[in-house]
Amino acid sequence: MQMKTALLLTFSFAAIPGAILAYDSPEATSTPPAVCADCHGKDGASTEPDVPIIGGISALALEEDLFAFRDRVRPCRTSKYRAGASDRPTTDMCRISADLSDDEIVQISAFYASKAFVPAKQQPDPEKAASGEIIHKNLMCVGCHGKGGSDPADDASILAGQWMGYLTIALTDFRAGKRWIPKNMEDNFQNLTDQDIEALVHFYGSGGYRHESN
Ligand code: HEC
Ligand code: HEC
Repeated sequence: MQMKTALLLTFSFAAIPGAILAYDSPEATSTPPAVCADCHGKDGASTEPDVPIIGGISALALEEDLFAFRDRVRPCRTSKYRAGASDRPTTDMCRISADLSDDEIVQISAFYASKAFVPAKQQPDPEKAASGEIIHKNLMCVGCHGKGGSDPADDASILAGQWMGYLTIALTDFRAGKRWIPKNMEDNFQNLTDQDIEALVHFYGSGGYRHESN
């Protein structure tokens, strides 16, 4: 039930012309709360392996994430601050998004969507990445995550070049049914072995688009 609230909110926003126009208008994109940069880095280019890079991801995908955290339909992990005052207690994305209004979520999402996606500097294993590419194609991940998961126009987030630590958490949460996934994909996710997840993570972590011709 709660999950519906998150999704409906997002879709109703997409349907409001004003909200869509706001994406194109630089004045409408106010600066996000400074606190976001203390974990997600400057312009969302996180340098922390367990904190996702959010700069350059589509506004719709970011809104979806923030509504889901605010409505508590997506797990929120306890996190310390990575920069700024270190005497602050730990927090999590549910608490961080709790007081954001719908408008603020739209504006913050537009801000990060307008930034560049800066791929993580990490060392994926080429053999595991090659196995991951096969799984990516066989399980039809490619259907929604085109160009090896590098296309923000998919509105399914950017996977290529995302931190491998974070991707592992995300895929494990999907398999455990803790995050929303398209109904027809549930079986595919539930049947992933740990080895499959590792391979997919190395594929996306290596910047999937380099291997993927689609
Ligand atoms: C204390 C650290 C911390 C702060 C501050 C923080 N985040 Fe996060 N954020 C995280 C972590 C960790 C995750 C990964 C999800 C999880 O484990 O809860 C995350 C996930 C996200 C995601 C989901 C990205 C995806 O690809 O699914 C978005 C969007 C996001 N944060 C936006 C924000 C915004 C906007 C702010 C400021 C209002 C913010 N975060 C502040 C730590 C933080
Ligand atoms: C029917 C479309 C669809 C298919 C097929 C699909 N995905 Fe996704 N995927 C999405 C959407 C939409 C999101 C964004 C959900 C969200 O933000 O919570 C997503 C999010 C993700 C994320 C998390 C990204 C993040 O930033 O947190 C990962 C990892 C992922 N998908 C991997 C896969 C893999 C692996 C497969 C194949 C087994 C797959 N997806 C198949 C639509 C799809």
